[in-house]
Amino acid sequence: MKKFFVIGNPISHSLSPELHNFWIKKNKINAVYDKIKLEESELKDFINKLRNEEIHGINVTVPFKNKVIKYLDKLSLEVETTGSVNTIYKSGNDIIGHNTDVAGFELGLRHSKINVLHKSILILGAGGVVPSIIYSLLSMGCKKIFLSNRTIEKAENIKKKFNEIEVLKWRKIPDFDIVINATSVGLKGDGLDLDFNTKNKVFYDVIYNPKETLFLKKAKENGNRIENGKLMFVYQANQSFSIWNNVIPKIDEEVLKILE
Ligand code: ATR
Repeated sequence: MKKFFVIGNPISHSLSPELHNFWIKKNKINAVYDKIKLEESELKDFINKLRNEEIHGINVTVPFKNKVIKYLDKLSLEVETTGSVNTIYKSGNDIIGHNTDVAGFELGLRHSKINVLHKSILILGAGGVVPSIIYSLLSMGCKKIFLSNRTIEKAENIKKKFNEIEVLKWRKIPDFDIVINATSVGLKGDGLDLDFNTKNKVFYDVIYNPKETLFLKKAKENGNRIENGKLMFVYQANQSFSIWNNVIPKIDEEVLKILE
């Protein structure tokens, strides 16, 4: 039986096992997917279990997305650029690190028919997922990316990877088509202390639980289009699954319900 894991710390909140085990069953694959909380000191030994095929694939979440890199043999271009790994597998004798958050973000937007080509985008926050979102937006041909974070140094660090973005002071709102909340504000029912006063724009929140953060709720009341990060999450899982199992699992209403 193949064994897959998502590793992180904390990890109890992760819904990846529900999704993957659903697809494992649907596709009649002899496998199981579990979550496991690790300490940083345990990463090396855990990843090495892929070498003798004691385990077959690992998803990586906070706070290990960059900490695993030094234990891997080869990295995809997405990982080289973002410094972030969410999917690990063995190919030949090599342990490979890949980042399916990049494809997950793009496929989620395409599923929702949100077009970013030639659009100006404001990203709020500078946490672990932001480089993946920027990589994805640039590859889809957006016109301009503004990045704003409460702690400006973190945004400036991201600019070192992507020189074409423009860092703005916190609370400075430029003219934009799409704004993305990639901060953790909203997870606990809290709201960002920002005033947008826009309508007919797209407001996207990476958070999908709660389904509608205050950021999205206010935006909808003002007449903007809103979208949460649920599809990004589902598509990054879908892409990891297809790498490990050579099957592209179906995304339908039944799957989306798992995350409600
Ligand atoms: P991750 O775990 O994804 O790496 P993180 O590093 O915890 O995320 O980052 C969370 C993001 O939410 C950061 O951009 C953080 O801003 P700071 O870099 O200034 O800490 C942002 N954030 C958290 N609480 C916030 C608040 N009350 N107002 C504005 N931004 C906030």
